[in-house]
Amino acid sequence: MAGFEFTPAFGNRPSQLVGREPLISTLLGGLDSRPGSKERAIVMLGQRGYGKTVMLLELAERAKERGFVVASPTSVREGLVERVVEKLQDDGVEELGNRRVRLSGGSVGALGFSVSLQFSDDEKDKSAEYKLTKICRELTRQKLGTLILIDELQGNSSEIRRLVGTYQELVGEKLDVAMVLAGLPSSISGTLNDRVLTFLNRARKVTLGPLETGDIDAFYRKAFRASGVEIPQELRRRAAAATCGSPYLMQLVGHYLVAYADGGKVDEALFEEAMQSAQREYENDICEATLSGLSPTDRKYLRAMAELGGTCRTSEVAKRMGVSADYGQRYRRRLLDAGAIEAPSSGTVRFTIPYLKSYLLRD
Ligand SMILES: Nc1ncnc2c1ncn2[C@@H]1O[C@H](COP(=O)(O)OP(=O)(O)OP(=O)(O)O)[C@@H](O)[C@H]1O
Ligand SMILES: [Mg+2]
Repeated sequence: MAGFEFTPAFGNRPSQLVGREPLISTLLGGLDSRPGSKERAIVMLGQRGYGKTVMLLELAERAKERGFVVASPTSVREGLVERVVEKLQDDGVEELGNRRVRLSGGSVGALGFSVSLQFSDDEKDKSAEYKLTKICRELTRQKLGTLILIDELQGNSSEIRRLVGTYQELVGEKLDVAMVLAGLPSSISGTLNDRVLTFLNRARKVTLGPLETGDIDAFYRKAFRASGVEIPQELRRRAAAATCGSPYLMQLVGHYLVAYADGGKVDEALFEEAMQSAQREYENDICEATLSGLSPTDRKYLRAMAELGGTCRTSEVAKRMGVSADYGQRYRRRLLDAGAIEAPSSGTVRFTIPYLKSYLLRD
């Protein structure tokens, strides 16, 4: 059985994937739909620490079991399409190994497959787009799907435009290809190239929301028991609630409770200490990182919101900042696009990132 350790580090596959099984099933269902279906192009958005990288890694594993050759999560930077090609080649060769075992005795078809994932001398200098197309054709012929996973999406990068353009051509050819792109909510705001925009409009969009407190509490119960930590039910429930559904904070809180447990026991004082340590680290990694990506006026807007109590009317925020309603609207829009705030009803705003408000007030 898998362990129950806490894994408070970014991009770390957790010992237990909490609360995301329904979404994983839905996404796998999409991958199983016929080639060309819009369910096969997925854009997954979520706040920092909400498990985007973890979901991509999980999908990679599960898709491999379903006959996909997978380009493991690639972050957007120079040479994106080239990296995707390399990763597909790597995984394809591995897949071949498995298939050879499965078919026992080795099949000529499988051998041919491995050879054809390499490129001949006169193909070596061809573009990455050409190579990607060739690989997808080959895999489709071998009745294997191609899954491309992109992490830390930046919707307006030229590399994404290249990739999306090629993806659309592959779909046009009815090849067995699918793609999942994950990023912060802000990654698809701002100026988007036409081609990317069309792709995004057609793609299936999913948001990684907070985890359910009940799921977190159930995970804590098992994890603490497995780590030999005794904690009163009331404190355990408080710990679960204090995470506000953030998977990263859930890992941090669990980690510190286990680390601080004295002789395997957690009392009120240790609980408070552990919560403080977790919160400090969370603020550093999440709140600070969020604010550092924003302009001074964005921050001023957030601070005004915090002082007004978190959920407030936009007109009051502008008044408190000493700016016109129009000017305030501009910053409201920017922060909505960045995913730092949301509008629960027209004319009001509230924070989306747990503990950002208290962090701003202490700053
Ligand atoms: N469903 C989950 N169950 C258990 N732990 C999770 C889950 N999702 C994420 N985590 C944990 O939360 C932390 C953050 O996850 P991850 O790195 O995937 O977030 P992210 O959304 O990619 O963040 P960033 O935007 O900073 O890249 C990791 O420690 C990971 O183990
Ligand atoms: Mg990540």
